[in-house]
Formats: sequence, C-alpha cells, structure tokens
Amino acid sequence: MYFGTATNQEQWNDTKYVDIMLEQFGSLTPANVQKWMFTEPEEGVFNYTAGDAFADFAAEHNQILLCDTLIWHQQYPSWLDQKNWTKDALLDVIDKHVYSEVSHFKDRCFSWNVVNEAFNEDGTFRESLFYNVTGTDYIATAFKAAARADPKAQLYYNDYNIEFPNNKSAAVENLVKSLQAQDAKIDAVGLQAHFIVNKTASEAQQQQQMQAYIDLGVQVVISELDVRFESLPPSEALLAQQTVDYEASIQACINVGKQCMGISVWDFVDTYSWVPTTFAGNGDACLWYSNYTTIPAFDGVVSVLKAA
Ligand code: G3I
Repeated sequence: MYFGTATNQEQWNDTKYVDIMLEQFGSLTPANVQKWMFTEPEEGVFNYTAGDAFADFAAEHNQILLCDTLIWHQQYPSWLDQKNWTKDALLDVIDKHVYSEVSHFKDRCFSWNVVNEAFNEDGTFRESLFYNVTGTDYIATAFKAAARADPKAQLYYNDYNIEFPNNKSAAVENLVKSLQAQDAKIDAVGLQAHFIVNKTASEAQQQQQMQAYIDLGVQVVISELDVRFESLPPSEALLAQQTVDYEASIQACINVGKQCMGISVWDFVDTYSWVPTTFAGNGDACLWYSNYTTIPAFDGVVSVLKAA
C-alpha cells in the first residue's frame, strides 16, 4: 500500500518541500501536466515535455507514478469546444487522445485516472461536452483505448463525494457494472476524499462503501485526500475533529485489506493547496501548515499507518 501526494513541478525549487516529499511519500501524482489541455494543446499535436519531466523525476526518486487524468470536464483544450462534433468524430478524438497519451507513458504509470467526475451529486450524468455529444459512450471508449495502449496500467474511475453510500456512489457502482458488461477493463474506483472537518462520513460508512465497490470485483484507492476547515482559525474542538476525519479514511482503507491499494493526498503543504483558491476562506486542509510544521492530525495519521 502506497502513501503518496499530488504535486506540481513549479513547487520543486522549494527545497524544503522537495525534501519532505521524497522522505515522507511513496507515490507522486501530477496535479496538472498530464491533463488534456497540456498534452494536446492543438488537435493532433501532442506535448509530453512536462509530463516526461515529471515521470523522469518520479523514476529517479523511486516514486510510484500515479497518472492523472485523461478525460475530465475541466482543463481540456479550447479547440474541443470550438468544433461542432458528431458523436462518432468526438469518440474518435477521445480514442486518439487517450491512446496517444497512455501509449506515450506506457510502462511508467502504475495507474491512470481515465475518467474524472462524470456524475452530478444526485447520481445523474454531468452535462459536459463529452456527455452532451456522446451520451455515456465516451466513458467506455476512454477505458478501452487506455487498456489497448497499456494493458498493464491500472485503470480507474475517479470522483468526489463517492466515499460513502449516497446517490452518486450508487451511480458509480452502476457505471462499474456497465463497463464490465461492455468488456471494458476497469481496475479500481478512485475516491478523491476532499473532506470538510466535521462533515465527513464515519470510518464505518467509508468502509461500507469501499466494500461495496470491492464486491463488484474492482479495487479502491484514496486518490486526493485532504480535510479542510470552512473558516479559519478553527476551534480546538474542530482541530481535534480533523484528526478523527483524517484517521477515518485511512483506517477504512486499511480495514478492507489489500483491495484498498493506497492513499494519496492532494498536496501536503497548505501553501500549495487548491482549497483556498476554490473555496474562499477555507483552508488548513493539508498535513503540513505553510510554515512546515505538521498539523495535529499528522501524528494520528502516522500512528494509524504504523499500527496497520
Ligand atoms: O498554468 C497557468 C499559469 O500559466 C498561470 O500563470 C496561472 C495563473 O493563475 O494559472 C496556471 O493554471 C492553473 C493550473 O491549476 C496550473 O497551476 C489554473 O489557473 C488553475 O485553475 C489550475 O487548478 C487546478 C485545478 O485542478 C483545476 O480545476 C489545480 O492546480 C489542481 O490541483 C486541481 O486538481 C483537481 C483534480 O484534478 C480533480 N479533483 C479536484 C482537484 C482540485 O480541484
């Protein structure tokens, strides 16, 4: 079981950051550079320079490389929106994009997040260019192209708010069944686990949902864990609750056994967290504060992992 982090190259001239990253974590996920807008900025023109540099860095430092992400309704190139696609033409472009990118990184990615965030909170499919033009077909097309390109890479569906039983997690279970029925290889469900202190499902609920996916014949990973406060500074009570919430996910992953393959946080220092830019006033979600002291939950996380 790995314990890793997402990161961006821009942060790597911060030597303190890099020292902690390489000492404390065992897998790296590029937070941006493998996304479609960067890897195919013009139709049919592929650019893997930054992605290669990331993969080389991971290999040099014996880090497992978790690759992210092939099809997402954000951070895709603008040329996709500028055309009037037929269904067949868009499926063809998706196939070519996924096949090209996964082939390029063949044998270097332990896993790929193939499709990200395809559902609304109520379990209906998210309206996106991909869904509006192809219906649900873009999902199987992407998974099949990825499997053709790198049969050994683990292929994941990745989403948030699917870590506990609800309409959205039920929809993901149905998607897994549907992909299996279409003979599309899917190996695991990625649980993003972007949590809010005191609004996080219990360990038991998270374990129950992990087991529900596992019972379908796939594995699970925690792919983007962080636990944020909705306002700062937090009360003592909420600070203590953050430890409970961090531990709940990690313990649930441990409890289901090796079918939970690993845990990644979505960066580990608040300086580089996505949270404050997306949710104004929220923060302190990462395991290290911006001054590089660890949060109280850090010790809890370590002891849960040590006891495993
Ligand atoms: O590359 C430009 C740079 O040239 C420019 O100077 C700078 C100025 O703002 O922006 C840079 O682009 C930013 C990009 O990250 C690279 O740093 C975008 O503005 C910013 O929107 C983008 O945010 C990323 C976000 O996805 C996009 O929605 C975050 O870094 C990334 O951590 C985040 O990751 C997502 C996962 O993929 C899916 N799950 C949720 C998670 C958090 O939102």
